[in-house]
This record gives sequence, C-alpha cells and structure tokens, in this order.
Amino acid sequence: MTYLGVDIGTSGVKVILIDRAGKALGEATAKSVEPVRPHPGWSEQNPADWWNAMLEAADKLAKAHPSEMAAVKGIGLSGHMHGATLLGKNDEVLRPCILWNDGRSAAECAEMEAALPSLRAIAGNIAMPGFTAPKIAWVRKHEPEIYAKIAKVLLPKAYVRLLLTSEHVEEMSDASGTLWLDVGKRDWSDELLAVTGLNRSHMPRLVEGSASSGILKPELARRWGMSGSVVVAGGAGDNAAAACGIGAIKPGEGFVSLGTSGVLFVSNDRFRPNTKGAVHAFCHAIPDTWHQMGVILSATDSLNWLSKITSQDPAKLSGAAETGYKGPGEEIFLPYLSGERTPHNNAGARGSFVGLSHSTDPGLMAQAVMEGVAFAFRDCQRVLKDAGTEMGRLLAVGGGSRSDLWLKLIATNLDTEIAIPEDGDFGGALGAARLALCAAEGADPTEIMTMPGIKRVVSPDRSLSQAYSDQYARYRALYPAIEEARK
Ligand code: XUL
Repeated sequence: MTYLGVDIGTSGVKVILIDRAGKALGEATAKSVEPVRPHPGWSEQNPADWWNAMLEAADKLAKAHPSEMAAVKGIGLSGHMHGATLLGKNDEVLRPCILWNDGRSAAECAEMEAALPSLRAIAGNIAMPGFTAPKIAWVRKHEPEIYAKIAKVLLPKAYVRLLLTSEHVEEMSDASGTLWLDVGKRDWSDELLAVTGLNRSHMPRLVEGSASSGILKPELARRWGMSGSVVVAGGAGDNAAAACGIGAIKPGEGFVSLGTSGVLFVSNDRFRPNTKGAVHAFCHAIPDTWHQMGVILSATDSLNWLSKITSQDPAKLSGAAETGYKGPGEEIFLPYLSGERTPHNNAGARGSFVGLSHSTDPGLMAQAVMEGVAFAFRDCQRVLKDAGTEMGRLLAVGGGSRSDLWLKLIATNLDTEIAIPEDGDFGGALGAARLALCAAEGADPTEIMTMPGIKRVVSPDRSLSQAYSDQYARYRALYPAIEEARK
C-alpha cells in the first residue's frame, strides 16, 4: 500500500509517494503559472493553474512509478493558505483567486473589526488582509455583481479536492486562516460569517486533517492506474503540513521555513492566541492540537527580487554574500516587499535599503537581504515569546535553507540551534502523504509524524551576538521612521 502527498504551492505543485513505513518512493513536480499583480500589492492566480499543475505532476509520477502508483490507498493535500476561490452555484470559478500575499483589503479589515468587536477573541487572530474573509469584504464592496453570485468560498487545496472528489470539504488548519473559524471550538462561527454577509451554506464541510474528506473519482483513479477506492484526507495548510512532514506536533516543537514566505512555526497543546503581536494562532492538522506562527511575507522572495533587478542568479548572489562575509555591514534591508504580517500587520509597508555607498555591491546587498529576513524572524520570535511560547531547537525547511550563511544568520539572531534534516523531502507534500496514511489506515498521527534524522546542526555564532543585537536595534528603529516619512 502506498500514499500520495500533493503540495499545491503558489509557484508549482509537488507530489510524493510514500510506503506504509513513510519512506519516499518517488516524486514529481510541475510549475504553475506565476501569480499576476494587476495592481501594486495585489496577487492573483487562476484556480485552473493549480489543477493543471496537479494533473501534470501526478501524470508524471504515474508514468515513472506505475506499480507504486497502482498501490495508492490515500491522497493527502497541502496548499498555500488563505486564498479566496469564489464559486457560483454550479461550482464555476467566478474570478481569479485572491492569494495569501495580496494586501488590497486593509480598509475592509478595519471595517470588520469595527463591525464585530469580539472578532479577535473568536477568531484568535487579527483581521489581516492576507486572510480570506477581508478579501470577500473587498469583493462585496468593489465587485458586487460577483459577490451576489457566490455560492461557496474554498481555499486553494479545497478547490483541488473538489475536482478530485466532487466534495466541498475543508480541514481545520487551513480553515483557521479564513477568519471565519472559531479556532478554539474548531467550528465555523456564525457571527464571523455574518460580518461578510455569508453563512454556513457558503462554507465547505469541516473535517480534521488526518480524517477522510471523500473518495477519489473513479475516472481519476483509472487515469493514474489506481485500483479500488482511494481515500482523500483532509490534509493541511502548507505550514501545518510541513509540521506534519517534519514531525513538529508536540508542544514547543517547531520549524523555521525559508520559502517564498517565511514562517516561524511552533506547536501548542491548546489554543494560544496573541493578537497584539500579529501572531497567527491556528488549529493544527491533527485533532486537539493547535499551533502558532509568525509569518513574514517575503523571505526567499526578497532574494528573488534582488536577483531579478541585478540579473544575477539567487544562488550566485548568496554565494557572493558568503564569500565576502565579515559580519554585519553598513547596509540594512527591510524585507517588506509585499507589506508585512508579523509583527506589523501592515499590508502597505514597503521594503527599504538603507546605508548604501559606493562600496555596496550585489554580494553586500544579498547579505543585507538575508540579514533583513533573519531580523524579521527575530521579530517573530519576540512576539511568540511575548505570547508565553517557549521554543527549543528549530528544524529548517524550505529552499532558502540550502544557504549555510542564511541559517547561521538566523541561528545567531534567534540564539537558537537550527537543525538541518538528513537529505530528503520534509515539506508539505510529505506531511500531506502522512495525513493520507492516517486517513486511509486509521493510524495514530503521533506514531506517523516522526522527526527525520538530523544531518547537522547550525549553532549561533556568539562572537557576533552583540554586533547583531546592535544591528537589530537599528533595523527595528527604521520601520517606524520610514513609515512616518512615507505618510
Ligand atoms: C501563512 C501564509 C503563507 C502561505 C504560503 O499564513 O500566508 O505561508 O501559506 O504558502
């Protein structure tokens, strides 16, 4: 018996096959059409792009591993969170999906909080423009003809699930990021829904991530050579899925994710909101478990931006930063290219380079970008600690964790050991496959979600602690000063 994990990312889809022991048997990827930005701060993608990439990746895997694919008994889904996929009464897509890094709905967030003063208490989260509900409030105001046609609102992976199973279903971890969920109760909130003029009929049915959400359509099972009935698990939002992949499910266990966005993730035994610091307090993907995250919107995306404007490959840029590295320099970068969630909750914030001189070269700029992202994680750690959360050693996941310098900068700034998993894939796709195994076999998630072996540990460089504390103080002073000047 085998299990398929599908990670629907903003830039592409990854599928992975595992066996009953959790061993990876094969994987495949397919690129999605990049999100479009019709206005500064907006970010949209066509739901059909996820489906096409999903089919392409699964077809490739079925071709390369036909016998393992034939043995699939469960499919798990991981997906980029918060996106508003609006469907009409025949499940037709009403407009492009407004994505997690879209900042257009700041005014609607303020209006929603004013309309329901208990919003933060019920949702456990601030109304932030990245979340789903404020996007619907924006559509209601600016596209009333589309709003009037809404029959269902689905998150990205629930849309893919609909095409896989014909069912409207969502699980708790992703549902937490809509701002319609009572996160403590793990149920939709009628009060929160009413703020955007919606009710339970507009929502998918809720399940736990490790439970079944439906059965794969027979024509798709045939397409991929699968026999018998294939369970589709609830799955998880990409961060909770990565936590399942890396085995971070017990209180205090966590990871730092250096992907397009950056996430500092810690598991909790109970619902622990701290709305003051823009901490995300969400359900985990397994029953009776919650988690907190600090989310920064541009992590590797900041280096990708520098790469675009300097026409230099990101790996070459980080290599140049590493070669010339002598500790913090004059250049300081604020990574707010898409605005920022934690700790500022300001979709209108923008990135800055400060301290440029004639000596500044792309390598020094890349170093400042990596340091800026490390400082943003330091901000996240500060507000998670303010919420009373203790974290130990953190595992590193995401493409940016291939850079030793970046990991060293994060370890030093968080004053925490960063562990790098043994070679292999420990991201959302593996977590989704593990959830599929739980749903198909009724296995106990705590036995399945184990931690990987550790290849090596990056320790803080204490000889640089003071220099980075000083630089971090400068970094923190810049945001309010720049915001003031931009008014
Ligand atoms: C989390 C968030 C991002 C997306 C990216 O709140 O918005 O991490 O899930 O995929």
